[in-house]
Amino acid sequence: MIKKIGILTGGDSAERAISLKSSEAIKNACNDLGYETIQIILNGNVSKIISELENVDFVFIALHGGKGENGVIQGLLDSLNVPYNGSGVLASSLGMEKSITKQLIRSCGIDTPDWKTFLDVDESKQYVPKIFPVVVKPSADGSTLGLSIVKDQSELITAIELADQYDGNIMIENYIEGRELTVTIIGQQIYPIVEIIPKHKFYDYECKYEKGMSDYICPSKLSQKLTETIQSVALDIFNKLQCSGYARADFILDKENTPWFLEINTLPGMTTTSLVPKSANSAGISFNNLIKLIIDESLKK
Ligand SMILES: Nc1ncnc2c1ncn2[C@@H]1O[C@H](COP(=O)(O)OP(=O)(O)O)[C@@H](O)[C@H]1O
Ligand SMILES: [Mg+2]
Repeated sequence: MIKKIGILTGGDSAERAISLKSSEAIKNACNDLGYETIQIILNGNVSKIISELENVDFVFIALHGGKGENGVIQGLLDSLNVPYNGSGVLASSLGMEKSITKQLIRSCGIDTPDWKTFLDVDESKQYVPKIFPVVVKPSADGSTLGLSIVKDQSELITAIELADQYDGNIMIENYIEGRELTVTIIGQQIYPIVEIIPKHKFYDYECKYEKGMSDYICPSKLSQKLTETIQSVALDIFNKLQCSGYARADFILDKENTPWFLEINTLPGMTTTSLVPKSANSAGISFNNLIKLIIDESLKK
C-alpha cells in the first residue's frame, strides 16, 4: 500500500526550473488523491537525499534531464528497493542519449532524420554537411536547449559551440520541414496526438514554456489512418527501447505524411499545461487521475 510519496525535484540539469514546476503540480495532485507527500530537493550530491528516499513508499521523480532522467536515480532507487514512476535504468539511459536511441530505432526500420554524432567537438567543426539546413543539438539535453537550426556552413561553428555547453555529444541532424507532433504512451495505451504550432520557426524554449507562444491542437487533425500509424510507431518505439510506465515521443510529420522520429522523453514535463497532461485531458483524464494512472502503471513493472 502506497501511503507516503516523495516527490523528487531540483537537480543540476538545465531543466531544473521546469522540474520545480512539475513537482509543484504533482505534489498538489498527490495531496488531492489522499497521499501523504514530501518534497525531496536534489541539490548537488545524490548521497545527501538517500535517507529521505528510503523513508517513502514511492518516489515520483519530477526531475528532467541529467541524473534524474538518465538512469542514475533509477539505479539508486532500484538498489534501495523503492518503486518509482516511469522507465527503469536501461530505457532511461538509452532515451537520454538521442544518438543511441536513433541508432536503435533506425535498426528497427523506423524513420528518423539522418544524422552524425561527434564524440569530439573539434572533429564536428571540420564536418561539412552535404545539405542544409541541419539541426545542431546536444545529444543528451532537453527543452531545446543548445539547439540551433543552421542554414549554411558559416553558422555551423557558433551552433556547435552552443551545443557543446550542454550535456552529451554533438549531433548534426538533417532538418525536416513539417508539422510538430508528440505522442503520449501510458502503460500500453496510446493517447491522442498533440500537434504543436509554435510561434517561432521551431519549438524552442520560449515556445515550450511561455504562455501563448505555441498553439496546441489535441487531438491533432490527421486522418484516422495516419493517426493510427503514428500511434503504433510510437508504441513500437516505447517497447523497442523497453520503456515502462509512461513516455512521450516527438516526431516531425513531413509533406508526404512520413512521421520522422526525433526523440523519446522518459520523464516528460508534468506541469498542468505540459503535453502529456494535454493529451490525457483530451482522452477525458484529469491531471489528478493522470498522476494516479502513472503511479499505478509504474507499480506494475
Ligand atoms: N531534425 C529536426 N528537424 C526539424 N526540427 C527539429 C529537428 N530536431 C529538432 N527540431 C526542433 O527542435 C525541437 C527540440 O528538438 P528535440 O530533438 O525534440 O530535443 P529536445 O526536446 O530534447 O530539446 C523539436 O521539437 C523541433 O521543433
Ligand atoms: Mg523534444
